[in-house]
Amino acid sequence: MAGSQPPHALQALWWPLRSALASAWPRRGDAQMQRMRRAAGGGEGDMHADAAERMYGALYLSHIRALAGGRSGLRILDVGCQSGRLAVPLAAEGHKVTALDLSPDWLALCRRHALEQGVALRTVEGAAEDAAALLAAQRFDLVICTELLYALEDPCRTLRVLRGLLDDRGLLVTSHRTRHYMLLTLARFQRWDDLAVVAGAEEGRVLGGQHYGWHEADTLHRMYARCGLQIEQMHGIGCLSGVGVDGLAAVLDAATLREDLPRLQALEQAVAHRYPDAARYRLVIAHPV
Ligand SMILES: C[S@@+](CC[C@H](N)C(=O)[O-])C[C@H]1O[C@@H](n2cnc3c(N)ncnc32)[C@H](O)[C@@H]1O
Repeated sequence: MAGSQPPHALQALWWPLRSALASAWPRRGDAQMQRMRRAAGGGEGDMHADAAERMYGALYLSHIRALAGGRSGLRILDVGCQSGRLAVPLAAEGHKVTALDLSPDWLALCRRHALEQGVALRTVEGAAEDAAALLAAQRFDLVICTELLYALEDPCRTLRVLRGLLDDRGLLVTSHRTRHYMLLTLARFQRWDDLAVVAGAEEGRVLGGQHYGWHEADTLHRMYARCGLQIEQMHGIGCLSGVGVDGLAAVLDAATLREDLPRLQALEQAVAHRYPDAARYRLVIAHPV
């Protein structure tokens, strides 16, 4: 704007000052985007302790319980377990849980949460891609890998490794980001360049060059088939609270969230059942072929 130009004599000082201010003052949404980037590496916060994350966890767990069909003592591997949001409750329900993660810090927190609840689980430090070597000849009834594959450059490589760890009748439980979630979140934070990438492809470098995937249902069917897996179920996870980095935690205080949790959870299930493409994540249940 012409009116905001400083007088000529000050211009030599003004432009360096203006660019210093611009770089010191983050663009609107940058802080949230940093949190979103960190979340891909599990750096967002303790997902076992966070009220909103626990609600998403409860949604995943309801599908996993349906697969267990009342059985206990299942051999379960949770890959990218973070602080044990899924691993700890599953161990508490009597399953034999192995929790694997790249980060020793998250594994330590996972063990702490297990200890607090008086449950036993085994932790293994390492990359999902190396799980076959790390777990040698072990086989599992359920292999879970939620909220991790979308951040990997070659999810198929990891899917093949995880497939190899399944027992004959074993099932793989994963989740992928939806395009809807990516588009709305990026629009909310005015990341127009990133938004154009998401609108035009199903994976790419966004959020400062980080690789992300946001695959559609038919692409996932093809991808899993290439990895020797057949998808038998897909479900939406987090429709109502899926728009935004912080989900429900951003709009409701923790006390309200706790109070409303059962009702919200029921609503989430009903809405995600009807509109799975509009969810934050697409839960996939697959078996080897
Ligand atoms: C967003 S958290 C997922 C949490 C958990 N799966 C859940 O749904 O509650 C991602 C986790 O994956 C871990 N991770 C990232 N890359 C990994 C890799 N290549 N192999 C194993 N774990 C990885 C991170 O350390 C982090 O704990």
